[in-house]
Amino acid sequence: MKFFIDTANLQQITEAQDLGVLDGVTTNPSLMAKEGITGEDNIINHYKKICEIVDGDVSAEVIATDFEGMVKEGEALAKLHKQIVVKVPMIKDGIKAIKYFSDKGIRTNCTLVFSAGQALLAAKAGATYVSPFIGRLDDISTDGLNLIAEIRMIYDNYGFETQILAASVRHTMHIIDCAKLGADVMTGPLSSIESLLKHPLTDIGLAQFLADYKKGNS
Ligand code: G3P
Repeated sequence: MKFFIDTANLQQITEAQDLGVLDGVTTNPSLMAKEGITGEDNIINHYKKICEIVDGDVSAEVIATDFEGMVKEGEALAKLHKQIVVKVPMIKDGIKAIKYFSDKGIRTNCTLVFSAGQALLAAKAGATYVSPFIGRLDDISTDGLNLIAEIRMIYDNYGFETQILAASVRHTMHIIDCAKLGADVMTGPLSSIESLLKHPLTDIGLAQFLADYKKGNS
């Protein structure tokens, strides 16, 4: 299972990279705005900085919502760095753009996916990644994890190579459940990754080991 971090915050990206378990980064216009990154040039520079920090894939989202606009933006983004994956929204022109990019060998991440039907279309169009937003489904009392299970079954039935990128992950249980269901990738905040470390018995056990060492060596 690949671990992506879902942020445009360079410090958090660096911390996750330093942990040694990071496989990539996902961003979106809201995450960019949260870091105060505005204006085309600044956004482009920010993507380049992210690519310098991490070794893996970096999703960069198009802003256009028409086919020609998405193709123009996506081709420019893909040229920025070999790690860039063009993030395209799940809309009609988005599917056309994903098919276009796929035919050209440009990797894509189909975002804002909330149903199995949308995920099936994204795979048919040749998306590299599909991003079901599980946290946002949970927010409206719909089981986000069930969507991961449905997509896994559909992709396995037909051998689709599109990778399931569980997005809108909010906490450790989302990560663990996605791993059980066979999601290829999860993207979440740094806190969700770091929280996987924690267990009170680990802390108690370590304190005991150190105390016993001290007793024997003082
Ligand atoms: O990867 C998608 C993500 O950025 C959305 O997360 O927490 O805003 O639903 P959230």
